[in-house]
Amino acid sequence: MKRTKIVDVLKSTDFGKDVCVKGWVRTHRSSKAVDFIALNDGSTINNVQIVVNPSQFDEEMLKQITTGACICATGILVESLGAGQSSEIQAKTLEIYGLCDNTYPMQKKGQSFEVMRKNAHLRLRTNTFGAVMRIRHNMAIAIHQYFHEHGFFYFHTPLITASDCEGAGQMFQVTTKNLYDLKKDENGSIIYDDDFFGKQTSLTVSGQLEGELGATALGAIYTFGPTFRAENSNTPRHLAEFWMIEPEVAFIDLNDLMDLEEDFIKYCVRWALENCKDDLAFLNKMIDKTLIERLEGILKDSFVRLPYTKGIEILEEAVKNGKKFEFPVSWGMDLASEHERFLVEEHFKKPVIMTDYPRDIKAFYMKQNNDSEERRTVQGTDVLFPQIGEIIGGSVREESYDKLMAEIERRQIPMKDMWWYLDTRRYGSCPHGGFGLGFERLILFVTGMQNIRDVIPFPRTPKTADF
Ligand code: 4AD
Ligand code: MG
Repeated sequence: MKRTKIVDVLKSTDFGKDVCVKGWVRTHRSSKAVDFIALNDGSTINNVQIVVNPSQFDEEMLKQITTGACICATGILVESLGAGQSSEIQAKTLEIYGLCDNTYPMQKKGQSFEVMRKNAHLRLRTNTFGAVMRIRHNMAIAIHQYFHEHGFFYFHTPLITASDCEGAGQMFQVTTKNLYDLKKDENGSIIYDDDFFGKQTSLTVSGQLEGELGATALGAIYTFGPTFRAENSNTPRHLAEFWMIEPEVAFIDLNDLMDLEEDFIKYCVRWALENCKDDLAFLNKMIDKTLIERLEGILKDSFVRLPYTKGIEILEEAVKNGKKFEFPVSWGMDLASEHERFLVEEHFKKPVIMTDYPRDIKAFYMKQNNDSEERRTVQGTDVLFPQIGEIIGGSVREESYDKLMAEIERRQIPMKDMWWYLDTRRYGSCPHGGFGLGFERLILFVTGMQNIRDVIPFPRTPKTADF
């Protein structure tokens, strides 16, 4: 008999008909008169209950249907009398596909996330990770749908690249050499002086520079792919390999850019509320009791739009009124997460789009404002979210060849690497801008999970890259 997914079985009202389900046993409760097997196949957070009359089955076989085992069950779909479920299956046949003994690490309920991270290969079978992964999938679909609806083209940028978009020198080197032939220093550490077929290349930190080539030809593009940062950040917000969404649009200014950022995030959150109801209800119950309320709250209000200089004034005022920060506040500093949190969670109590940052704390490509040389600002935007901090970083790009060139020289960025990028400003240059959304940070917000390692199937961090 053909298998029906449990998500469809639970929606079906074909009572009295036979169905076949396959999945992994969540629990098996047995008594003399009746056994209940809760089965899950990953298609939904909800289990289907299989009601078994033990006298009709081999006792030894029933004993082997333990938590984690994989089985196939057929039986009659009936309306359920039990609370919280509409239907159940009265078993006619049971077949064990794969046994699961009591060494199964995911057996115990309420495992710590730390233990689950050590079992990243199996944690996907738990309720929490099932919910997070289905939401992750839904957010990817929402993102493609949003840009498709708005006339953006999905544009693929290279993962192996010779340019350092953010200029932070946090790039993983790519080499064509066999791992065992790499040169080593006297301590046995590998010397990365090597190349990609004769050229020094790295894994990309951002598809933006190539994305600008796309936008200045196709009008509006977006990328959605993995990016890599060789930074030694061991925080609940950083990964060495994360997915980024980078729209880039011709003919927009700073206000258009902020409108796009806000509209896009709200679209994704609305999508989750409409399409991930069961998984969100589960996470709301088990992980974060204010999750759905917070998601709905984001949709209600406009985000605050706050120039950096005004933000510093608010922080200085707070210090005057007795607020204690670990890092002192002064114009020109990069905001620490305590400052961002204060603005978003205590002062405004809603998301903040901060703009017009000092030039020296932002990347070389941002459009410069016509302010004083000492307090020169650029049209960068960071979207700061409650609980998350920076969820988006973006900017209007400097379109003037001369200004961009002067900035590249001021920062001593090697020119030979930038000739193709400069050509966008040499030939038919245009106002344009874009942003990067950290996919996992969006998932953190939408799921209420606390640690970025728990919203990607196989996290890469300085301390974890086992699989
Ligand atoms: O602010 P970032 O570094 O900006 C860029 O890369 C621009 N080139 C984007 C653009 O304008 N097209 O990174 C963008 C976002 C951050 O706001 C954050 O959400 C996420 O990427 N991000 C990380 N997420 C997880 N782990 C890390 N190590 C991250 N670094 C940045
Ligand atoms: Mg940033």
